[in-house]
Amino acid sequence: MTRFFVGITGASGHAYAEALLRALLAAGHEVDLAATPAGCLVLRHELGVEAGVQGELLAESLPGWLGPEAAARVRVFRSDEVGAPPSSGTALTGAAIICPCSMGTLGRVRAGFSSNLVERVADVALKEGRRLVLVPRETPMSAIHLENLLDLTRMGAICLPAMPGFYHRPKTLEDLVDHVVGKVLDRLSVEHGRGARWKGLDEPPSEAGAVPAPGAQGER
Ligand SMILES: Cc1cc2nc3c(=O)[nH]c(=O)nc-3n(C[C@H](O)[C@H](O)[C@H](O)COP(=O)(O)O)c2cc1C
Repeated sequence: MTRFFVGITGASGHAYAEALLRALLAAGHEVDLAATPAGCLVLRHELGVEAGVQGELLAESLPGWLGPEAAARVRVFRSDEVGAPPSSGTALTGAAIICPCSMGTLGRVRAGFSSNLVERVADVALKEGRRLVLVPRETPMSAIHLENLLDLTRMGAICLPAMPGFYHRPKTLEDLVDHVVGKVLDRLSVEHGRGARWKGLDEPPSEAGAVPAPGAQGER
């Protein structure tokens, strides 16, 4: 069992956050969770999940959102709780994932602002040499966005934009979401059944659920 930190920001694409949380919890892991104020707004708008302003209502909403059993393995923090346990380098956080990651948070992480818990945990992950996976969603991207992505990649973050592929012939929205989330889970070395593995042009796409362990050959 690993404890992961998941930060939710005000970028669109909260379906990715939900699928990621469900997959981490289904794999038996524990999650520390925080949503920025803009993240709380978009959570309500896109998923109908009430999180309050700084995430103070998120713990209450969690059982109805993810189910009571899963919710029991999530520690929820307000985004202004910059002194919460995950804000310290001494915290045993396996990896931090910001999903989806707004361009605002991306820029502030790049500059080391640490102005809320999500940014602080990202800063700690970089300073401690821990895995930091950023799932940005914005299009088109400005030179500022692209420079921030390049700099963060050079600093050790994994920038994994929410850009689903189509070569696995997705049929549902879930197939598209799973294609991105499966790649995030691969980076975390979490086994999963989300997203199909590429087997070559002559092979039919494999069904999600038949996904081998991370690091399989031929992944695109
Ligand atoms: C419905 C909605 C969708 C948004 N989508 C995006 C987006 O996809 N990418 C992005 O960078 N910002 C997006 N924004 C703007 C961010 O929420 C805004 O820049 C905010 O200040 C980010 O704050 P945060 O980084 O602290 O979460 C969106 C805002 C709203 C209300």
